[in-house]
Amino acid sequence: MADNSPIGVFDSGVGGLTVAREIMNQIPKESIVYFGDTARVPYGNKSPETVITYCRQITRFLLSKNVKAIVIACNTATAFALETLKQEVNIPIIGVIEPGAFTASYTTHNNRIGVIATVGAINSNMYTKFLNRLNPDIKVFSKACPLFVPLVEEGMIDDPVTFEMIKRYTSVLIDEDIDTLILGCTHYPLLKDNIQKVVGPDITLVNPAYETAKALKQCLLDNNIESNSQTCEHSFFVSDGADKFREFANSILPCDVIEANDICDIERY
Ligand code: DGL
Repeated sequence: MADNSPIGVFDSGVGGLTVAREIMNQIPKESIVYFGDTARVPYGNKSPETVITYCRQITRFLLSKNVKAIVIACNTATAFALETLKQEVNIPIIGVIEPGAFTASYTTHNNRIGVIATVGAINSNMYTKFLNRLNPDIKVFSKACPLFVPLVEEGMIDDPVTFEMIKRYTSVLIDEDIDTLILGCTHYPLLKDNIQKVVGPDITLVNPAYETAKALKQCLLDNNIESNSQTCEHSFFVSDGADKFREFANSILPCDVIEANDICDIERY
């Protein structure tokens, strides 16, 4: 049976828009309710307990919008909160780590995979766990890149400072002879072209945002809850700075974002 209710998608800020963009491109009949926790970004340097509390509030907010499934469009939140939320919520809920790890595991030829992500996601070791579960011979080399999120949130994508930081962060991974690099933070696909320029054409970049949209499509099919609507309607909510968010969203999404709404009391949920 078709279900035309929206998909809930959330992130600590604008990064999850890279996942929303892939969902819009790959499954255009689905409507999205997006929440960006812009008042509390970044999650990447917060404790698991704090991130779980934030994710519970956002999940309750999304459930109040009658979503039929939830995508945690944030690696840090996926690492800390996915398993907890799966036990607490009775609709399908998927994260971004497993789809990206799966693709990387069959992309690599030399079994040497690099992961770049926030401090929290790297310390959780989740990518290494998933990759080694898929193939114990894979060697994983991780590097936390804490400055990438603020650089992206400030719109400094093509700034020389950003290029310099990409060089510094990735050089240790290039030295390890990786042939595949996972962009393990949903903000990083916005830096994808520049990262590729720095690491060169011999390293394949894996974009978990793209893989997650593919996994969502399959999940909707498996649960028989795909939309059959001819029109879709997206809505956007943030915990602060709706106008700035709307501008950013319009620069990367394939649809017009007419309005983003401030939910200043997300703690209430
Ligand atoms: N987009 C988040 C992720 O994928 C990171 C941003 C943050 O630190 O809040 O991990």
